[in-house]
Amino acid sequence: MRVVFLSPSYPPEMVQYTRGLAEVGATVYGVGDTHRSALPPEVRAHLHDYLQVPRIMDEDDVIARVSAWLRGREVDNVLANWEPLVILAARLRERFGIPGMSADTVRGFRDKQLMKERVRAAGLRVPRSRRVRNEREMRAAAEEIGFPLILKPIAGAGSADTYRVRDARELDETIPKMRGIPEASCEEYVEGEEFTFDTVSIGGVPAYENIAAYLPKPIEMRSIEWISPVIITVRDMAQPRFAAGIELGRNVLKALGMGDGFTHMEWFLTPKGEAVFGEIGCRPGGACLVDQMNYTGDIDLFREWARAACWRRFEAPTARKYNTGIVFKRALGRGRITRIEGLGAWLRDAGRWCVEERLLRPGTHRRDWKQTLLSDGHVMVRHPDWDEAHRLSFAAATGIKMYAE
Ligand SMILES: Nc1ncnc2c1ncn2[C@@H]1O[C@H](COP(=O)(O)OP(=O)(O)OP(=O)(O)O)[C@@H](O)[C@H]1O
Ligand SMILES: [Mg+2]
Repeated sequence: MRVVFLSPSYPPEMVQYTRGLAEVGATVYGVGDTHRSALPPEVRAHLHDYLQVPRIMDEDDVIARVSAWLRGREVDNVLANWEPLVILAARLRERFGIPGMSADTVRGFRDKQLMKERVRAAGLRVPRSRRVRNEREMRAAAEEIGFPLILKPIAGAGSADTYRVRDARELDETIPKMRGIPEASCEEYVEGEEFTFDTVSIGGVPAYENIAAYLPKPIEMRSIEWISPVIITVRDMAQPRFAAGIELGRNVLKALGMGDGFTHMEWFLTPKGEAVFGEIGCRPGGACLVDQMNYTGDIDLFREWARAACWRRFEAPTARKYNTGIVFKRALGRGRITRIEGLGAWLRDAGRWCVEERLLRPGTHRRDWKQTLLSDGHVMVRHPDWDEAHRLSFAAATGIKMYAE
C-alpha cells in the first residue's frame, strides 16, 4: 500500500496521522511545503520519501510536481486530513485514476452553500439560507429569512466574520463589517445547543462515531475573549436526546457521498428536540478533538483512521469509557504570560482524572485567541460520569486564571 499523504508535518497533529499510516503498513510519500531539513524526526522516521513543494496551496503546481516526482512509480491512494488540502487530494486521486471521493464530491464538504443544497435536497433539516454578495442582497435576504439571523462568509473558518443579527438596527451595524467579504451566507439563526458528530467512515458508513458538546457555542467561544471554551465528548451517545442528531449525521454522509476517512460535523439541537445541520468537513476536527476521542475510549484514532483509509477496516473498540472535557484558557492582558493562578488547587481536585495539562508557561508569548482555539493552552480531564466531567471542566474554566500583565 503506497500512499501519498499531503502535508505530513503541518498542522502538527499531521505527524500522528503519518505515524498511523506507517503503523498499518503503508509506504508513505509525504508532500508538503515544510523544508526537508525542518521535518520533525518523529515524522521523518515514518516517511519513505518526501517532496518539498514551494506552495502547498497552489493546486495546479502541486499536481504537476507530484506527477513528475512519481513518474514510473505507482501509488494506491492520496490522502489529506487538513481542510484546505482535501480538494487537492481528490484532484490527485483523479489524476492517477485512484478510486475514492471525487473532487466534486469533496466540494460538497468544502463549499458551505453547495453542502447545504445537497443536504437539503436529501430532505434533511438545514437552516434557511441565501448566498449574498452586496448590501442590497443582504437586505433582501434578511427580509425573506427574518430575525434573528446569521451573516457569515461562504468560505469561512474559525467563526471569523460571523455575526448574529437580532434586528434591523443590528443589520445596519453589521453590513459595513461585511464589506470586503466577496460572498456571504445569510441564514436563519437556529436556537439551541450545539454539538459535533464525528466519524471514521468506510464507504460512507461510520465505523466509529462521536458526539461532543460545545460549551458555549463556537460563535460565542470565538467572539468573547474572557470565556474559557469547554468541549466535552459525550460518553453515553445512546441517550434519546441524541438520536435525531446521530440519524441526521449518518444521513448527511449518504447525501454527500462520503467515502473512507474522518468526518467532522456540527449540528444544533433545538429546544423542541429537533436536530438541524450546521456544517461538515471530510477531515478530523481540530483543536485536539481527536486526542479527546482517543481519551474517551482509550484508543488510537490516528492509527485506526489510517487502517480505514488504507485497508477499509477499523479495529479499535468503540465502547465509550469516559466523557472527556477540554478547557482552553486565555490569559488576561497582552504580551507574555506572567503567572497562572488556581492550577495547583484544580490539579488536586481533578487528581487522576486530569489527562493533560498544556498551559503556556510564564515567559511564553500569548497565542492569538482569534486565530486559534488553542488559545493560551488547555487542560483535559475525563470521567465516566457526565456530571463530574462537566464539574471538573467548569472548575478549570472558572478556577484557573492566567495573566499577561
Ligand atoms: N444558522 C445558524 N444558526 C445559529 N448559529 C449559527 C448558524 N450558523 C453559524 N452559527 C454559529 O456560528 C458558528 C460558526 O459558523 P460555522 O461553523 O458555519 O463557521 P466556521 O467559520 O466554519 O466555524 P469553525 O471553523 O469555527 O467551525 C457555529 O459554530 C455556530 O455557533
Ligand atoms: Mg464551524
